Amino acid sequence: MKNDFRKNLSGGATSAYQIEGAWNSDGKGPSIWDVFCMIPGKVHNGDTGAIACDHYHRMADDVALMQQIGLQAYRFSISWPRILPAGRGAINKQGIEFYNKLIDKLLEAGIEPWVTLYHWDLPAALEFEHGGWLGEATSDAFADYADVCFNHFGDRVKNWITINEAWVVAILGYGLGVFAPGRVSNSAPYLAGHNLLKAHGKAVRRYREKYQSTQKGQIGITNNCDWREPLTDSDADKQAATRALEFFLAWFVDPIYKGDYPESMKSRLGARLPSISAGDRELILGSSNFFGLNHYTAMFAADASGGAVPGNVYGNGGLSEDQDVSLSVSPDWKLTDMQWAIVPWGCRKLLEWIAARYGNPPLYITENGCAFDDPVVNGTVQDTARIAFFDSYLSEMHRAIQNGVDLRGYFIWSLLDNFEWASGYSKKFGITAVEPGTLRRIPKDSAWWYRKVIQKNGLM
Ligand code: GAL
Repeated sequence: MKNDFRKNLSGGATSAYQIEGAWNSDGKGPSIWDVFCMIPGKVHNGDTGAIACDHYHRMADDVALMQQIGLQAYRFSISWPRILPAGRGAINKQGIEFYNKLIDKLLEAGIEPWVTLYHWDLPAALEFEHGGWLGEATSDAFADYADVCFNHFGDRVKNWITINEAWVVAILGYGLGVFAPGRVSNSAPYLAGHNLLKAHGKAVRRYREKYQSTQKGQIGITNNCDWREPLTDSDADKQAATRALEFFLAWFVDPIYKGDYPESMKSRLGARLPSISAGDRELILGSSNFFGLNHYTAMFAADASGGAVPGNVYGNGGLSEDQDVSLSVSPDWKLTDMQWAIVPWGCRKLLEWIAARYGNPPLYITENGCAFDDPVVNGTVQDTARIAFFDSYLSEMHRAIQNGVDLRGYFIWSLLDNFEWASGYSKKFGITAVEPGTLRRIPKDSAWWYRKVIQKNGLM
């Protein structure tokens, strides 16, 4: 297993709903994203993932493309409703076959598969039956689904990620209602978050009890976090920045590494935050072999206990009234098309914060990237801003490694321009363009740049 960053683990990432398409083909059941996209006004331009990049039918060519770019690892997600169309019970053989072929093709190409079990496309049946992640039954169904995956794919898959970005699922899906299933509430996110952690713990327990000793793989969870820099040197702002990181990242990571939610969340949320029982603690504490991190941007944080907090958007840290934190960006920072600021040193500071708080765990950056819309000209895409972005972030990661952070691997987001959730196809994160209509793949300059970085195992 090549799992030492210094030995070159550099990969690319995607997720099922964002690229596969074939939303109702070959026995697949509907997911909450299939349903959410049908609601007028929820997704930019009325876009859906019904066809997406049609990866389901172009998988072999996409693996050839990865090989051409020189990826050493590929992080993709399995669509739960493609494997279990009703969320539980009968297995869809065609779904198993699709992922079997993908895994085999990757291994033939010398690319290590990194598999995410849940990247947001919950089987719609579980939303109707149990309120999705608001029902504990969904966490049991998740463990059963994970078991099916370990059983069918674990002979070849040695790197498992249970849940992608519980914060996004909880806050955007069950708090702000801007992602599926679209619920609006100031308490539901904390219950959803609790059940997501239990789902992770139950799947890991299953892996450890039934598979890990024979299959010899590793399993963890991936969380997302932006950096929060104190706006001023005041103690109040420093505490606000820490509080913001606790409500963002430590919410899901403290239970795994320390066995409980952060004190700041417990005292501010009261009964809205479920408590971690002795049984939950046993399930969740120590349940990750590695620390998965998705990182995109940074903001300044200031104490807002005395005044109004600006409105809340994707990426700014949750239901801010619970935190008394005011977030802002510097006018000097350049922005990507998502309006996310490019702050590479924030990545280093976050890595160092994680290493200090959690005892320097083995870390993988499982997503990092930027949206820019560069045109295709004569069959090429000169995405210089994306290259500069990757170059600057990788440099800061290198500094973090020099400072002792145990960073072992890196995945760019994303291999392809794809369905960017509520933004539809309007935001382009790919190192490969996907031509509208024909869906032809056109590697951008950043893809060839990344190839050289991987070959050289260093920046230009
Ligand atoms: C992450 C997510 C990805 C991708 C990316 C860019 O939150 O896991 O699916 O959309 O952000 O927004």
